[in-house]
Amino acid sequence: MTQELAQRLNQYVQDLFAREDEILRYVRQQTEAHGLPVINLQRNEARLLHLLVKMCGARRGVEVGTLAGYSAIWIARALPASGRLITIEYSRKHADLARTHIERAGLADKVTVLHGAGLDVLPKLAADSPYDFMFIDADKVSYPGYLEWAAANLRVGGLVVADNAFWGGGIFQPDTADGRGVAQFNQMLADHPQFESTIIEVGDGMALGVKSD
Ligand SMILES: C[S@@+](CC[C@H](N)C(=O)[O-])C[C@H]1O[C@@H](n2cnc3c(N)ncnc32)[C@H](O)[C@@H]1O
Repeated sequence: MTQELAQRLNQYVQDLFAREDEILRYVRQQTEAHGLPVINLQRNEARLLHLLVKMCGARRGVEVGTLAGYSAIWIARALPASGRLITIEYSRKHADLARTHIERAGLADKVTVLHGAGLDVLPKLAADSPYDFMFIDADKVSYPGYLEWAAANLRVGGLVVADNAFWGGGIFQPDTADGRGVAQFNQMLADHPQFESTIIEVGDGMALGVKSD
């Protein structure tokens, strides 16, 4: 398949299945307007994540890497009314903006934004485990540590999903700490005795594991 055809098909799927409403468009606009990097999930990735959360019947989940709340809104909308998402963000500026967006989306009762580094905050959440899913989209060097937390704190049948599993091809040239982190994460996930897993070729690659033991 040519790159041109691949892009056309990606656009086709996006236009058919991953439509944004006013609030999601607003969050993307505000992300840029506030000078944050526009590195939220692509629409097709966000739609896939939304469906995965629904398909595993999730009620309670954890996200690492909130940015301005774009993916958190897609996730929260897949949860039942009683569902809860805890999302962890290292930057106070990002966390504050995400809270305003989540409030505006009418999801403040469902979503809690915690400020801090993922590997510092996650141990405090273990007391309330097991969780139904974990979405990883933060610092790449910590991906292996996030996977260890998922293995210990997801229920059997729970999902771990991680964005940037291709790291723009950096997994083939792991001469940076980020590339090494993602490559190590992918290897750990593939070999992990507690997960059945793959990488879906959408966006920058979404790694997916179902906890089986
Ligand atoms: C790719 S963005 C997240 C995008 C978001 N999931 C979305 O799709 O809307 C990564 C975010 O992770 C945050 N981050 C970086 N290191 C972190 C850490 N150690 N713990 C938690 N968040 C971190 C960054 O500040 C940034 O906001």
